[in-house]
Amino acid sequence: MKGIVLAGGNGTRLHPLTLATSKQLLPIYDKPMIYYPISVLMLAHIRDILIISTPDTLPSLQALLGDGSHLGVNFSYVPQPEPRGIAEAFLLGDAHIDGDPCALVLGDNLFHGAGFPDLLRRAREELDGCVMFGYPVSDPERYGIGELDAEGRLISIEEKPALPRSDQAITGLYFYDKQVVDIAREQRPSARGELEITDVNRVYLEQGKANLVPLGRGFTWLDAGTHQSLLEASQYVQILERRQGVRVACLEEIALRMGFIDADACYRRGTEMSQSVYGRYVMDIARSLA
Ligand code: DAU
Repeated sequence: MKGIVLAGGNGTRLHPLTLATSKQLLPIYDKPMIYYPISVLMLAHIRDILIISTPDTLPSLQALLGDGSHLGVNFSYVPQPEPRGIAEAFLLGDAHIDGDPCALVLGDNLFHGAGFPDLLRRAREELDGCVMFGYPVSDPERYGIGELDAEGRLISIEEKPALPRSDQAITGLYFYDKQVVDIAREQRPSARGELEITDVNRVYLEQGKANLVPLGRGFTWLDAGTHQSLLEASQYVQILERRQGVRVACLEEIALRMGFIDADACYRRGTEMSQSVYGRYVMDIARSLA
């Protein structure tokens, strides 16, 4: 299975923070925002990851993430000249996907919760069509919304409905079978000129092959698209990390635990950042798991 992180857009809701840099490079507490969605793909055991961003931002992302070999993964990069919609990721990523199933994650989404790696593994192993993840929100008119029947079957999907039929937001993480590029190619831009991910998902729904897995209220899903949500995401990570002494979305730790790199490689990587608590944490983890 291939992975895509969509990390473009103009970040206009975060101005002036994003006048000279991209949203996905801004910090969520102790690491750049894009670490969080990358960690999700790695936890799903996806090692071929395409990063899509604006032409201006790609060089910085490449400087940050490189080719991925230090994490035992392959990062490749493709520019999206204009934000023409989330589903454009499949057209830009056609060569990368190369006929395989694919997971897409939005570059500003943070997922955290017990049992998440198992959920991801099941979504991947049992994939037949498309799998989305639902999360209860208090402001459903701001999101793609899914409606489940009494048996938990997905029966409708709407993008930012004025009168939402449920409070289940469709989060920015999607698993698709091999059809996704062809389905995306058949879509026409919406009234706002974008290839909508919701239109792609609706095709799977019409095929009877769209599943929405509720993440439940014990889980945390945040998107860091506004000043307020950016700060809240940082506070969330800070509180967890201070209280538990573990790090959320530490890519080196995940790479080591998933068996993508060995303890020596993890330790070496930590030494490159040893002036920071993050770097020293990576060194400690490598020592403890050696
Ligand atoms: O966060 C989950 C929501 O994401 C879903 O519930 C919605 O169904 C989905 O449409 C999307 O809604 P947003 O209003 O958050 O979409 P937005 O246009 O803000 O794009 C989400 C991220 O994707 C944002 O960080 C920028 C990036 N993006 C977006 C577009 C349209 C791109 O990189 N390229 C694009 O062309």
